[in-house]
Amino acid sequence: MKSTLIRKKFFDFFAKHNHTSVPSSSLIPAQDPTLLFTNAGMNQFKDVFLGKEQRTYKRAVSIQKCMRAGGKHNDLENVGFTKRHLTFFEMMGNFSFGDYFKREAIRFAWDFLTKEIGLDVSKLHATVYLTDDESYDIWNKEIGIPTERIHKLGAEYNFWQMGDMGPCGPCSEIHIDRGPEFGCAQCDPSCDCDRFLEIWNLVFMQFDRQSDGTDLPLKQTGVDTGMGLERLCSIVQNVDSVFQTDVFA
Ligand code: ALA
Repeated sequence: MKSTLIRKKFFDFFAKHNHTSVPSSSLIPAQDPTLLFTNAGMNQFKDVFLGKEQRTYKRAVSIQKCMRAGGKHNDLENVGFTKRHLTFFEMMGNFSFGDYFKREAIRFAWDFLTKEIGLDVSKLHATVYLTDDESYDIWNKEIGIPTERIHKLGAEYNFWQMGDMGPCGPCSEIHIDRGPEFGCAQCDPSCDCDRFLEIWNLVFMQFDRQSDGTDLPLKQTGVDTGMGLERLCSIVQNVDSVFQTDVFA
């Protein structure tokens, strides 16, 4: 499956679930003094999450050009040392602004990966924030992932913030186990090796982080997700690294 088809399937799937398709914003963020380059799909929706801007829709889908070569989300040091890190990449994301929350976000991601893309269910693992029992139970009881493939991790892994300030919240990630030949004989999604590949991050937006580090609750909760197109391509196309996908060829 080529990247063009994956992009199309992504937009079609979320359009079917009443999401408005929004084009990627510029790599140079408009009106955001906290960012040099766009580093996530949610950047253009930051003020919508903060309740400062209204849109005509409550659900959106985009494929955002992102750059992570400095600042809060800096992947530059990893490029060339792993099979999965890039400084420039495309982030596929679906968003909810005061509409659906954890249950639907998890269900959408799972159905897209397993039904539309056809990933091997037995290789998929989920991570959740240490105290997020609600997401844990959704993965286990509703989606059916056995507990040995659900991992509770701390803020370093499962709490996402755009920058030092702004919208943030606990997150839940979907990883695929590529097998010991990609890294350690025994490890889990918190390991830096290439065995567990994070495909999709689902952020449950709940707070507005202040400059002094306090988290104020948002007026309404939201969902911000990000899936690496090149990473998904590397799995679907069964190649060793993101550099061998059709995106690069
Ligand atoms: N904004 C989240 C991320 O970049 C989805 O991982």
